[in-house]
Amino acid sequence: MNLAVFASGGGSNFQAIADAIFSGELPASLALCVASRPDAGVIERANRLSIPVHVLSGSQDDWLPQLLTQLSERNVDFIALAGFMKMIPSSLVAVFRHRIINIHPALLPDFGGKGMYGMNVHRAVIASGTKKTGATVHLVDEQYDTGPIVMQASVDVLPDDTAESLAARVLDVEHRLYPSALKSFAENRVNIDGSIVSIL
Ligand code: GAR
Repeated sequence: MNLAVFASGGGSNFQAIADAIFSGELPASLALCVASRPDAGVIERANRLSIPVHVLSGSQDDWLPQLLTQLSERNVDFIALAGFMKMIPSSLVAVFRHRIINIHPALLPDFGGKGMYGMNVHRAVIASGTKKTGATVHLVDEQYDTGPIVMQASVDVLPDDTAESLAARVLDVEHRLYPSALKSFAENRVNIDGSIVSIL
């Protein structure tokens, strides 16, 4: 697996994936880090690890062809979205059908969709009164958070949780779940049948 990780923020999931690769736990190469903004914290993490970085700029008409060139030149065959805040264009989904996954900080299909990202998700979870939340890894399709679910892990919502304390506990679970999901793909143990994904 020749992986590109796309991120917009601090990049703690990028770091967890890189750590899993460098420790030998995840049989993959980290070919490219794609950042949606020049001030994303993930860029510094990638630089520290000497992973090539590509920063998107301009309108989608500008960045999409450049991105496709980068992915092709670096022989990327799998993409992991890790806190990436741009919609993936349908043409990219088509080129990488079933080879783009995302991590979402809640138990989909609840608390997903447009506007449901980062802290917004945890605030909505707390406001709903639900006692369980978690993290979901899913395949990316043409809409927000609707692709087939690959793996989930749950986290208790505690009575005195704030959005921040809950986010930290969910993030901790994400850092284990995401490398584990990627490992299943890297080892060809994922079977996709319509909306049902089975891990062999
Ligand atoms: C993570 O919690 C991830 O699940 C979330 O953004 C955070 C990125 O953190 N993604 C979404 O909300 C996507 N809808 P990180 O930059 O430290 O990996």
